[in-house]
Amino acid sequence: MQGNELKRRYIDFFVSRNHTEISGKSLIPENDPSVLFTTAGMHPLIPYLLGENHPSGSRLVNVQKCIRTVDIESVGDSSHLTFFEMLGNWSIRDYFKKEAIAWSYEFLTNKDFLGLNKNRIYVTVFEGDNDVPFDYESYNAWLSLAVPKEHIFKLPREENWWQPAGRGGPCGPDSEMFYDTGAEKCGSDCRPGCFCGKYFEIWNDVFIEYNKQSDGSYVALETPCVDTGMGVERTISMLQGKKTVYETELFAGIIRSIEDISGKKYRDDDSSTRSFRIIADHVKTAAMILGDGNAVRPSNLGQGYILRRLIRRCVRHGLKIGIDSNFLAQVAESVIRTYESAYVELASRQEFIQSELSLEEIQFRKTLNKGNKEFYGVLADLNKNKKRLIPGQEAFHLYDTYGFPIELTQELAEENNITVDRAGFDEAYRRHQEISKKGADKTFKGGLVDDSLMSIRYHTATHLLHEALRRVLGEHVAQKGSNITGDRLRFDFVHPRPMTDEEKKSVEKIVNDRIAENLPVSVQTMTIEQAKNINARALFEGKYGEQIRVYSIGNFSTEVCGGPHVESIGDIGEFKIVKEQSVSRGIRRVRAVLT
Ligand code: ALA
Repeated sequence: MQGNELKRRYIDFFVSRNHTEISGKSLIPENDPSVLFTTAGMHPLIPYLLGENHPSGSRLVNVQKCIRTVDIESVGDSSHLTFFEMLGNWSIRDYFKKEAIAWSYEFLTNKDFLGLNKNRIYVTVFEGDNDVPFDYESYNAWLSLAVPKEHIFKLPREENWWQPAGRGGPCGPDSEMFYDTGAEKCGSDCRPGCFCGKYFEIWNDVFIEYNKQSDGSYVALETPCVDTGMGVERTISMLQGKKTVYETELFAGIIRSIEDISGKKYRDDDSSTRSFRIIADHVKTAAMILGDGNAVRPSNLGQGYILRRLIRRCVRHGLKIGIDSNFLAQVAESVIRTYESAYVELASRQEFIQSELSLEEIQFRKTLNKGNKEFYGVLADLNKNKKRLIPGQEAFHLYDTYGFPIELTQELAEENNITVDRAGFDEAYRRHQEISKKGADKTFKGGLVDDSLMSIRYHTATHLLHEALRRVLGEHVAQKGSNITGDRLRFDFVHPRPMTDEEKKSVEKIVNDRIAENLPVSVQTMTIEQAKNINARALFEGKYGEQIRVYSIGNFSTEVCGGPHVESIGDIGEFKIVKEQSVSRGIRRVRAVLT
């Protein structure tokens, strides 16, 4: 049975039981900032589950396209996908557990529908805890259908309680249905819900009895609802006797196009298997996001960032199987052909889908080359120093300058048996966001970033200037004073004569070249003695052993300083010397601006 046939039978089954077929909604939720994507068929129905009347009545059925990225790291195994279609039937304060369970069982086992062997069906029910009692109603409903006790498992909240991702809201105990594939148990405690592959989850009946509040408490609904979900890809792969979701017609054409492009054959057990699957899954999801009526483009925010991550992962896994030229638009073509009959908007948006994929792919290939070099440089340094941890600042630099999503850095790190200081990265990221937000707010208001951010930029520019002066004029250059406003910097230093125009130009060029390289700024705390040992610029006054902060701009400048500084220098502006003059004998003063 193919996917289209499964969908048709499911819809017909429930329509003949007085359900109204409603259309699936956008992948990008409207009016719900709590999730990035529609993660389940119930998501667009939340207001109705919580009390509104649905215009199509109290019994609904549909197929909904869904995206879940929580398990993105598991994609590539036999069953996890980021895009999938979910079949669902709903009771909006109409029928409840008994009817829902009876219909589920009938659809699964009756020869007119799926005709599954009853002996291979296993189910689970909520065992109860301090807050919510054992779901005896569901348990009895299964017993009354002659499902043997040994096939009904009582499981705890972690496994048998459902609520939508990203928020509180409608939730409750659920009853899950599994098919026994006939494989050996992986151990004595192997049971439905175990991930070894013996039991295949095909359907979930959720009994919406509560509304979870933002404070975490549960309020019982006056009249409960039913929300069910059956994964199309998993169910047809099971019905077709396939070992993985990648072997059905919903992936065949996509995998074939990857084979054509790579010149490699897809096999389910070799070193390229995972890359094939990741590309197939991710291009499908990316095409579905771009093909959606509410499509977003790749960006660094929200859905756009997920889209970007998916595309970039495809490019990387393409490289792993020998694809080093642009190929995503071609794979997307096969996604569109696979789904255009179900989702007509895909064909009409084909050009947009393909051009957006290509643009992002081209851009990423450029940064990837540079970023890879940088990553392996960092790795070499770590190896040299016998360290196994990539500092958060370094990971942030890879993100900020080379467009490496943190997950990519983590993946590369894992491949090289090292780890990333994720907390450090998150902190650097947060600070960066704060600074850009400050800037963006002000830009929005008055067309100019605010003084404090500008001052910070000038402060960092002063370090660049100091080092550039030393390189152009000589080691004798030492700081004698500095004054910064939001409009300019002023820097006094030791030098015996006026600077020539050529010297000024050289200094400007050095500073601007470093800005163009977008060097990262990092800070370390150390003792004065340690700072001296690493040749940090400083006046070196202070008590022995005193802890100080040393700011580094890439490998270009190292200076003892209290901060603050920008995170990386790429967007501080263009550096220009506007005046050079004498302050006193042997002391020169430079005024400079960032434009
Ligand atoms: N909303 C339930 C799920 O996604 C049916 O599993």
